[in-house]
Amino acid sequence: MTEKKTSRPFERPQAGGALYCGGVPLETLARRFGTPLYVYSADQIAERLAMFQRAFKGRDHLICYAVKANSALAILRLLARRGAGFDIVSGGELERVLAAAPEAAERVVFSGVGKTAAEIDAGLKAGILAFNVESEAELELLAERARRLKGRARFALRVNPDVFAETHPYISTGLREHKFGIDIRKARAIYKGAAKNRWLEAYGISVHIGSQIRSAEPFGAAIERVSKLARQLWSDGVAVKAIDAGGGLGIDYHGGEFDATAKVAEYAEALNLALGDFEGRLLIEPGRFLVAQAGALVTRVLDVKRSGKKTFVITDAAMNDLIRPALYQAHHEIVPVRPRRGKARLVDVVGPVCESGDFFARDRKLPPVEPGDLVALLDAGAYGMAQSSNYNSRLRAAEVLVEGKKARLIRRRETMADLLATEML
Ligand code: LLP
Repeated sequence: MTEKKTSRPFERPQAGGALYCGGVPLETLARRFGTPLYVYSADQIAERLAMFQRAFKGRDHLICYAVKANSALAILRLLARRGAGFDIVSGGELERVLAAAPEAAERVVFSGVGKTAAEIDAGLKAGILAFNVESEAELELLAERARRLKGRARFALRVNPDVFAETHPYISTGLREHKFGIDIRKARAIYKGAAKNRWLEAYGISVHIGSQIRSAEPFGAAIERVSKLARQLWSDGVAVKAIDAGGGLGIDYHGGEFDATAKVAEYAEALNLALGDFEGRLLIEPGRFLVAQAGALVTRVLDVKRSGKKTFVITDAAMNDLIRPALYQAHHEIVPVRPRRGKARLVDVVGPVCESGDFFARDRKLPPVEPGDLVALLDAGAYGMAQSSNYNSRLRAAEVLVEGKKARLIRRRETMADLLATEML
């Protein structure tokens, strides 16, 4: 499959025709599985993983997919079978990896600002590759748990390199004022101290400066600082084996031409340059770049309501299904599945949740739509379903994975029984 085809998996095979995912019409999927419905292209996810693998093939590397972006078991399995490792941030994400691909446990890195003793134990027992440790207290806890379980724990300190990355403030993490990581200036002393502890093995250094970062430059700046630290550690006798560059490579949400291969190449070049003569292993933790553009949220128009000068297109999906517009003022392209003739007009696309913040788009130019029509919110494969909730006691959507001409349900729609299952009177 060519890059052009997979870079936009949601296409209209005929001009003015209906929208497809791969070989499957979205109308068929909506009829079969109902709406709101998340639809993902397996082909694009596989292709994106292959792009990273090709870009780094010159060096020892491991792509650890950030599970938080989309934690569907079927997607984890698809990636694991193609050699991916995983970046997890909770015991729940570990459980998912073990359920989807137990053989991938040894390719898991455990990140996250606060890990409990139980989560650390679960990681140690599963034999994961390394813990990305975010404080001195956490390193002590890790050593203590490893001692109890009588095994050595591999760790990387997640350093905070103090570099600025242009993105939304909620998803920027690499400045000293952020809660993440350990001040890079303190790291050397901590590694030296840890070298005396027989329950700890200094596996690597990790860093993650933020998410949806469009330029390669800040990644290079962060890795330059990290590789300098690696050289200092080597001279101290602490031979770290790996550098984990984190995730964060951004995509284009505006439906323009987007050359994913070129983006990955530019990113790889920045990292390779900054790594210099570091000969160890490179880990990266992409989430969004692998899955965002492979997914769409398909929703049915319930009503088109005029109020004063405004027109509201009310859909059966809401902020509980896709919170990105409400939370980050994020832009998602919205396209009718079967376009009608007529003049485009400015509308707000909103969900039924009882909050004014429940919108997908404001003052957006949209071709005419009528109640009963389907529209697709594009680039929703990352941080869509993963950040969904039952707010307003709405049932969570179903998910479908498309492989070529075949589509299969990978998560059924929630039922009223699911909604009440964990409660007691
Ligand atoms: N590694 C670590 C340690 C992370 O914290 C994250 C994302 C990643 C990797 C993956 O980053 P990515 O490649 O996906 O940018 N909910 C927000 C994004 C939050 C990102 C949190 N950390 C959104 O919808 O934009």
